[in-house]
Formats: sequence, C-alpha cells, structure tokens
Amino acid sequence: MKYIFNEQIIDHEKALIHVSDLTLLRAYGVFDFFRLVNLQPLFFNDHLDRFFNSAQSLRLKCPLDRDKLKSMILELISTNQIQNSGIRIILTGGESHSGYSIGKPTLIVINEPINPLPKSHFSKGVKLICYEYLRDIPEVKTINYLMGIYKMPEIQAKGALDLLYHWNSKISELTRSNFFIVDQDDKIITPGNGILKGVNRKHVLHIAKTKYEVEERDLFMKELVNAKEAFITGTTKKVMPVFQIDDLIIGNGKPGPVTIELQTMFEKYVVEFLGSVQI
Ligand SMILES: Cc1ncc(COP(=O)(O)O)c(C=O)c1O
Repeated sequence: MKYIFNEQIIDHEKALIHVSDLTLLRAYGVFDFFRLVNLQPLFFNDHLDRFFNSAQSLRLKCPLDRDKLKSMILELISTNQIQNSGIRIILTGGESHSGYSIGKPTLIVINEPINPLPKSHFSKGVKLICYEYLRDIPEVKTINYLMGIYKMPEIQAKGALDLLYHWNSKISELTRSNFFIVDQDDKIITPGNGILKGVNRKHVLHIAKTKYEVEERDLFMKELVNAKEAFITGTTKKVMPVFQIDDLIIGNGKPGPVTIELQTMFEKYVVEFLGSVQI
C-alpha cells in the first residue's frame, strides 16, 4: 500500500515522522478524513477546503498546494485501488528544536480501509452519554481526540456509541460527529457555533432545508426532553438515529420519520452528487 509523504508517493512502511515532531511531543497538528465511494472521493472539495483552513488556523504550511495535493490524492487512490476505504490527510507540527515551537510540517496522506459500522446502528439507532467538555479550538480539525479515546471504556460499558459534549448548558457535538434534534413541530435544530462544521452536516442541512424548517443556533441541554427525534451526521455515520441520551429515551425509542427520511434523501443525494461533480 502506498501513502503520500510530503511531495512523494511512497510505500507505507517508509512514512515515518521524526521523534521531535510537535505532533508527537505536544499533539499539535491537523487532519481531515473523507470516504471513497467506488474509488471516487466524496465531498472532496469541502474536505480540502477544511483541511487548508485548519492548517492556516494552526499556522502550518502544507508542502503541497491545493491543486497538487488534489492530483496526488487522485493518483494515490488509483494506485492503491482499495474499495471501501477513506483518505486521511495529516499535517504535523514539524520537527521542533525547543519542543514547543512549530517546525516544518510533514504531510502524510493515508489511504485506509473503512470497517463498516453495524447495520443496526443505522436501522435502530445508537445511545449517547452526555459529557461536559469543550474541544480545544473547536472549529479546527486538530488531531487531538484525547477525551473521546480516554472515555472509551466507560462509553462501551454503558452500551453507548459516543459522548455528547456540552458546555455551559449548551450542546456542541459528539467526539467525531455533529448533533441534531427534531422538535415537536418537526423543526430540525443543530448547534451553530463552537463546533467542527462537519462536511456531512453541511450537506444534510442543505437537503433538510428543501423539506423542513432548520435552525442553526445554540441548543440547550434542557431542550433534549422535548426532542421528538435526534440524529448525528459524519463521514462514516452518514445520518444515524439516536434513540437514547443518558437515561432519556428519545421519542418512542425508535428512529423517527424525519430521521428516516433524511437517511433516504442523503443516500440518494450522495449518488447524484457523485454523478454530477467535476473533480
Ligand atoms: C469533532 C468532530 N465533529 C464533527 C465531525 C463530523 O465531520 P464530517 O461530517 O466532516 O465527518 C467530526 C469528524 O470527524 C469531528 O471530528
């Protein structure tokens, strides 16, 4: 299997970062991740935009410009030919002499297989656990997932999929997905600030607006009790129903009609999107 390493495509065993890289020493770095559908990148431009925005926010200069990175990723995909895989673009903090200053970033692009999530997650939904936490620089896709990984044993012991982060009584997002509720009037509400703006969130909101009223605004913890439905979005989660949050059963504990409709609309939208997009 091949990876991109700075300006080259190399064997994956040779993609090694230096021990003094700021990503290793201080968890300073950014990444982005998208999936391939029949070897075609899904929402490629959105992910490249977000990657370069994240890099700029953390003052990391990518060794390749956008066009070059894009063409090398396409070359990587056609070289590897891995069906059901994803692309992870990582930009490290670079070798740091002081251990605290930004160095010359290393670019690594990994083409990795994606293990499909259990079908029941999509058909029956998932459980979440509330946790009071605020991600660092939430609008940037940094490589720091410390809390999500640290809490994994607790999450699994409770039979949950993930944490639902909240701070100052406002809900933000999950460790790796965005969060939505459907209120009693079938209005779709999702937090608008203090989150990573998911690419799938953007496209699901676009679809949702064609049929429902949508609000991007502060969403308070106390609003959960009035939610008829809840769902999450993300690259591998697509549109996934939520049937329970802590001890609160959402709706009747089964995926609701709005969520099910958005799942169907999203599947169709993805096919049409890939058919119409100019790479
Ligand atoms: C913190 C966080 N929020 C939301 C998302 C969902 O983003 P996307 O739809 O682009 O996968 C992710 C993706 O990994 C994430 O890490």
